[in-house]
Amino acid sequence: MAVRPRSSVAQMDGSPPRRYYTGRNLERARAIADLRARTHRLMPRFVLEYLEGGAGEEATVRREREAFAEWRFQPHILVDESNRSTKRDILGREAAMPLAIAPTGLNALFLHRGDTALAQGAARMGVPYIQSTMSNDSIERVAEIEGLRHWWQLYVFGGEEVWQELLRRADAAGCEALVLTTNAQIFGDREWNSRTRYPGGWPTLAAMLDAARHPRWAAATVAHGMPEFSNVIDFVPKDKRSFFDSATWIREQMPKTLSWDDVARIRARWPKPFFVKGLLNLEDVRRARDSGVDGIILGSHGGRQMDWAVSALDILPEAREIVGGATALYMSGGIRHGTDIIKALALGADAVLTGRAALYGLCAGGADGVYRALDILRKQMMNELGQAGMASLDALSPALLRHMPRIPVPVV
Ligand SMILES: Cc1cc2nc3c(=O)[nH]c(=O)nc-3n(C[C@H](O)[C@H](O)[C@H](O)COP(=O)(O)O)c2cc1C
Repeated sequence: MAVRPRSSVAQMDGSPPRRYYTGRNLERARAIADLRARTHRLMPRFVLEYLEGGAGEEATVRREREAFAEWRFQPHILVDESNRSTKRDILGREAAMPLAIAPTGLNALFLHRGDTALAQGAARMGVPYIQSTMSNDSIERVAEIEGLRHWWQLYVFGGEEVWQELLRRADAAGCEALVLTTNAQIFGDREWNSRTRYPGGWPTLAAMLDAARHPRWAAATVAHGMPEFSNVIDFVPKDKRSFFDSATWIREQMPKTLSWDDVARIRARWPKPFFVKGLLNLEDVRRARDSGVDGIILGSHGGRQMDWAVSALDILPEAREIVGGATALYMSGGIRHGTDIIKALALGADAVLTGRAALYGLCAGGADGVYRALDILRKQMMNELGQAGMASLDALSPALLRHMPRIPVPVV
């Protein structure tokens, strides 16, 4: 597939065309954009729509990038930058940078044992990996990875016994923290993804033919058998355990009544750090702060749930004011560059989650690709902290930034 690069607005705008690097040498991938371009080269269309697609008209997907682009740096000069570092404590333990790999379901569609590869990349870098309820590798197998900071993301479905059992397993597997996703009890209306599928989930004939033209993808994924949702499949009735049927069944079992009382019940059962994920309304942030959770993750599920929602970055400074210093405040959505992380921290985040950037690494080069994606972000952070005249992450504050919403920007 031809990759249509987007050049800088200032120079070389299409004449001659620029190209991202799409080869296999991960060292030559200079930016997340290169890993993304390789992903687009290797993956069939229906997989790309699952990975990239958002809800509805994808206004929130776009907003999550635009929101970053509207903040510009006002760099300092003549600051001693010789001891700057990207390291920061996460839950009281040092991490290589204030970032965790976001929970993503169905990673076997990108690579057989994709959850394990993501976790290996995270462990090698020294950041947490949040494993999704809808992951494909068993929580116990992922937990075996040496040095992994393993967190578990919970989707509530079925009766209480399901989440109680999942919490028991997460605890037994040594998971350090629990993340309850609160904004997906009703599945987002992912138009573009569903255009590649028949009702019920099967890829359309056109999507199958396109997949057949991607033999390397097939060899790395479905040649190992159809993926299954290993951690929850035992809860699914026997006649609904095929891949697409089980996904649909689980979705149907997600109670639409999930409430703050459930948050309290889960809190009472889980003594370790507990985060709620998917908040975009300041009243909910206030409520979460008072609910006894340890952390709040702002975000829209990467633009895959409500369309035309604000992005996490849009409400971050006000959310910070609300939570003060007592509750950890993370954000997710649109992180593609080290400068994005710096901006999020300056506007009040303690840490960020990244979904797609890590997945581009996974698609481009397995566990090594995941590590490369994280390493790119870390190196960019390190360099740009210096460019901004910041002696440390602790020096970041909104005063470093200027909001310039009317500057036209290319949105990648
Ligand atoms: C392919 C894909 C699958 C996802 N699956 C889940 C999931 O199972 N549980 C969850 O809480 N969030 C899920 N998310 C949302 C991510 O955790 C995260 O909030 C989002 O990807 C952040 O945006 P970004 O991709 O721009 O970094 C998924 C996102 C993607 C792209």
